[in-house]
Amino acid sequence: MEYKNILLTFEGEIGTLTINRPKALNALNSETLKEIQAGVQEVRANQAIKVLILTGAGEKAFVAGADISEMRGMTPMEALGFSKMGHQTLNMIQDLDRPVIAAVNGFALGGGTEIALACDFIYASENARFGQPEVTLGIFPGFGGTQRLPRLIGKGKAKELIFTGKMVTAQEALQMGIVNRIFPQASLMEETKKVAAQIAANGAVAVRLAKMLIDSGFNMDLADACAFESYAFGIGFATEDQKEGMAAFIEKRKPNFRGR
Ligand code: CAA
Repeated sequence: MEYKNILLTFEGEIGTLTINRPKALNALNSETLKEIQAGVQEVRANQAIKVLILTGAGEKAFVAGADISEMRGMTPMEALGFSKMGHQTLNMIQDLDRPVIAAVNGFALGGGTEIALACDFIYASENARFGQPEVTLGIFPGFGGTQRLPRLIGKGKAKELIFTGKMVTAQEALQMGIVNRIFPQASLMEETKKVAAQIAANGAVAVRLAKMLIDSGFNMDLADACAFESYAFGIGFATEDQKEGMAAFIEKRKPNFRGR
């Protein structure tokens, strides 16, 4: 598919989806959301890709939010539909059966923080800024900010960010647990790709099952979640990767995982 608002590139086992509307600081309009959905579908269909990185084009912004020009004239029903389209898009990222790393290279505001939160974890450049400034526009987060943010950092911290609409630095976001690591902007993509390559070298089925268990188990009670883990652990022993990984350890060689 031809994309106008995103770039989708593949290097070996790593895919990079770049949101590419630098003139609007990569703001998410409906067209861009549709293209992100198509891009994620393309990755889903390409089994050679083991890890996806999500980033923004340019030096200034990751994503400066949902597109305010498009939202401005929306009726309540149109706004409901737009929010649903945002959720659909972010859920596709969250549910992709491979790890997705957000490389936040500048402003991640409103829908920008929200789309990063739908990824498995976030790396940020030193100049990155996070925030949910929706209340300053007379609205509130509509792409999952009221739900994913408190689940990640706790209700009190999430309420402070959402009620004040204030931006936080990458360093503050690290302390809050929004961000896992910070890099200088010039090396953010290189460092993110190094970690992506480390993940891609591991047993792909094991990584997928681990993602599924963490995400599904998170909302279960501990006993059910642990039982679920045991069943999945058993299924893991039906894979070639389990046989190869353990044989390689015993034979003191590097495993040659085939993702099955
Ligand atoms: N939507 C549409 N256009 C946007 C945008 C957005 N979210 N953010 C920036 N832009 C556009 C600006 O209108 C401007 O366009 P023009 O050059 O045509 O005027 C261009 O991008 C550059 O932006 P600025 O001139 O404002 O750049 P700056 O350096 O002065 O400020 C900024 C940068 C602090 C990020 C500022 O652009 C800003 O505050 N943006 C809006 C952030 C925001 O409120 N995001 C939340 C949106 S609501 C939302 O996301 C709802 C939801 O949960 C679904």
